[in-house]
Amino acid sequence: MSLAAAEQEAPIGAWFDPLDAAYLEDPYPYLTEARRAAPVFFADSIDHWVVTRHRDIKQIFRDPPTFSAVNANAPLRPPCPMAAKALEDGNWRAVPTLANVDPPAHTRVRRIANIAFTPKRVADMESFVRELTVRFCKERLRDGHADLVADLAWELPVLVLFRILGVDDREVPRVKEGSWNRILFIYGRPSESEQVKAAHGMARFWSIAESLVEARAREPRDDFVSTLVHTADAEGKTLTREQAATVVLNLLFAGHETTTGLLGNMFNRLLADRQAWSDIVADRSLIPNAVEEILRFDSSVIAWRRRTTRATDVGGVRVPQGANLLMMLGAANRDPDVFADPDRLDIRRANAREHLSFGNGAHLCLGAPLARLQARVVMEEVSSRLPSLRLAADAKPTFAPNVSFRGPLSLGVVWDA
Ligand code: HEM
Repeated sequence: MSLAAAEQEAPIGAWFDPLDAAYLEDPYPYLTEARRAAPVFFADSIDHWVVTRHRDIKQIFRDPPTFSAVNANAPLRPPCPMAAKALEDGNWRAVPTLANVDPPAHTRVRRIANIAFTPKRVADMESFVRELTVRFCKERLRDGHADLVADLAWELPVLVLFRILGVDDREVPRVKEGSWNRILFIYGRPSESEQVKAAHGMARFWSIAESLVEARAREPRDDFVSTLVHTADAEGKTLTREQAATVVLNLLFAGHETTTGLLGNMFNRLLADRQAWSDIVADRSLIPNAVEEILRFDSSVIAWRRRTTRATDVGGVRVPQGANLLMMLGAANRDPDVFADPDRLDIRRANAREHLSFGNGAHLCLGAPLARLQARVVMEEVSSRLPSLRLAADAKPTFAPNVSFRGPLSLGVVWDA
């Protein structure tokens, strides 16, 4: 795929490919072209209908009876028989539970998850996030150059999540390995042998969630997993072990990978814009809105999925029943009908918060307050400690090959030591 092909006026559905190398490097020109070409189109490359406009995506999020979330965690490419067997042999027992079920089943689980993931539990994390950031700055950002992903963004969110969930810090490598396999398996286009390898990794990932749930079922502590396992619904029923382990598994992925991506995107974009960076250094009250603008301008989740339960119109285009939709949040977040001069980063943008990066409606991201808190605190500490921070001349970020999750895998920076 290239924009040159678009210029030759080939139908967009024939060339649009969100797993193409040029798209992964910078999806935004492609998303702009897609939004301009058609509000909705079928992309041959991924067998999904692609939706690009803010108002259409918001309407989809707000209409669960027509747009089911059942496919939210389904592999983009169905598993080959060997990969399916690897999951089965590895005792993979995840069941549709939260992100990929519709109301009323979703409502019940979401209530229990809300009780476990209280605003207080999140707010209590502020001092720990600050403490960790200061520690990483002192220990790892010392010699005038660093990789902000490897030295800060990669580990900080997972340690914060572990504190909430009640997971031992020694699990970081296993959880990170599980997350990488999940990205490739579900949101990428792995070859059959890569699928089998990732499936083995997913099964190992499942066993971490399952053992944690078993342990807290036996011996509860003051943590999220214990509350999740022991909280009953209105009828006095708790989640099954498989349901609880599935929620934990999803959090062991969504609860840190997304924030690592957000921190990477935040530094990548703000350091490239010297005026924005020096304004933040001079006035930290700009940070909360700058975080919203980064979520709009370069989110760590740029696409999400739904499936139609009946034939329906989306943006005036007829879409059949059972159609898999890929909602391009990254395109909605730069829709000129909602955001003036959308391709400009503006940390003072008044309506930055209208982005759709956390979804909307019933499934609105459970961890949004935690992600916002971490981005704010990390930015406060790093901008005040390293005001001369800038991107290294040779910084050329690369991104994981998948349709949904986006953040630099490394980010070279320098400063005046
Ligand atoms: C920048 C960081 C993050 C972004 C951009 C993000 C984005 C999203 C999106 C797009 C959805 C789907 C919403 C929908 O279907 O309507 C979602 C759901 C979810 N997110 Fe996040 N997320 C982030 C961080 C987190 C964190 C830190 C956690 C947990 C600690 C988390 C947990 C969840 C859960 C559990 C759901 C499913 C909610 C449900 O189905 O009711 N996310 N997130």
